[in-house]
Amino acid sequence: MCVCVPLIALLLSPLTTASTAKRTAWVVESPAFAAAVRSSLSTSWELKDCSANGAGCAVSLPDAEVVIGRADALDLTRLPRLKLAQSSTYFYAAPKAVPSRAAIATATGFWPQRGVEQIAEWCIAAIFQDVYRLAAASAAFVECAFAAEAPSSCAAASEATNHTMVSDLTIGIYGYGRIGSEVARRAAALGATVIGTKRSGPFVPPPPPLKWLSPDNDRLLREADVVVLTVPGTGHASTAGLVNRTSLLLMRPHALLVPVSAGPINFGDLEAVLRDERPKQRAVIDTWPGGCWHYPNASCGPPLGPPDFPGSPVLARLPNVLPLPSLSMRDAAYWRSAADSVARNLDALANGKPLEGVVRNASDVVSVI
Ligand SMILES: *[C@@H]1O[C@H](CO)[C@@H](O)[C@H](O)[C@H]1NC(C)=O
Ligand SMILES: *[C@@H]1O[C@H](CO)[C@@H](O)[C@H](O)[C@H]1NC(C)=O
Ligand SMILES: *[C@@H]1O[C@H](CO)[C@@H](O)[C@H](O)[C@H]1NC(C)=O
Ligand SMILES: *[C@@H]1O[C@H](CO)[C@@H](O)[C@H](O)[C@H]1NC(C)=O
Repeated sequence: MCVCVPLIALLLSPLTTASTAKRTAWVVESPAFAAAVRSSLSTSWELKDCSANGAGCAVSLPDAEVVIGRADALDLTRLPRLKLAQSSTYFYAAPKAVPSRAAIATATGFWPQRGVEQIAEWCIAAIFQDVYRLAAASAAFVECAFAAEAPSSCAAASEATNHTMVSDLTIGIYGYGRIGSEVARRAAALGATVIGTKRSGPFVPPPPPLKWLSPDNDRLLREADVVVLTVPGTGHASTAGLVNRTSLLLMRPHALLVPVSAGPINFGDLEAVLRDERPKQRAVIDTWPGGCWHYPNASCGPPLGPPDFPGSPVLARLPNVLPLPSLSMRDAAYWRSAADSVARNLDALANGKPLEGVVRNASDVVSVI
């Protein structure tokens, strides 16, 4: 009779047998995220903190059955027991980085049931940031008002403090749907004039709080001080390229663009127009065509490959662009839900149950234990 205790289990925990040994998952995420996963588990796992770039697991025994988080920060081919690359979010590791013996899964259970309110509030935050620039105003103030020769290097007060109000703005909801109507409700409550477009009617009378609703996107681009782009994004071929040179030049020269997804954006046009033709036009960019921030599959650069920027570094550094790390939906409630979802998949794996959020199944079932 064969006593099937793998050598690796003996090395790890000489006092236990394989059947009672803890399974090991490596966490390429924050210690707080690992702790949240731990607190939701009902099966026995050892969760090892690898740090966000994987460095913490570089010299560890390659015992992980699961890598959680930014899995492709590690060379996954050196993990012979790997069964699952479990993302901690809706992005997932580029499949070519994950050996076919392992499955790939995303976190599930938040979007689309939840997330609309988060995204809508983020749109309003982006508009407030554009109107008030609090951090920049504060930095300029500290620089001059607390200098030895204060206030001799301060700008005139009218320059240092002058600003408009959100209630002065016409806010255009390009794609008036689930997210768009929540943005409209918040913007109108702040006193802004809100207009919207969608593909199909009825358009008249406009649903409150809109001043008008129409299928005419170009009219919205011409009238709005802020264009909030809430059309269906990645995966919807029909909206690809909606943000292009023509549409950007239809916008008012001082307008702000707030897109909620990357799919509709022609990034080359956006960069060229904001840099060369419309220096006063602005964009808040939270969704990207590359890097670890590319929905849905993400490729994360070092240590496995060259730096993988989320988009053009030129675009990200323009003074009229505010680049952000896909934070619109990912609030504390999101991360709580994501940790629960990861724990459910660890439990499912330990119990031999189906996984959630599978992007790619393992090509073969490897029974190491
Ligand atoms: C204040 O800002 C408004 C809007 O940008 C501008 O039109 C106006 O000239 C500014 N006033 C002063 C005194 O700078
Ligand atoms: C580019 O923008 C114009 C103006 O809004 C629009 O009519 C056109 O369909 C857009 N192109 C693409 C490929 O979406
Ligand atoms: C990653 O996503 C991009 C854009 O959605 C797609 O073109 C590409 O084929 C995907 N790659 C893999 C390996 O899934
Ligand atoms: C993975 O396998 C399960 C069970 O066979 C199947 O239901 C599911 O559709 C597969 N998922 C993918 C992405 O292939």
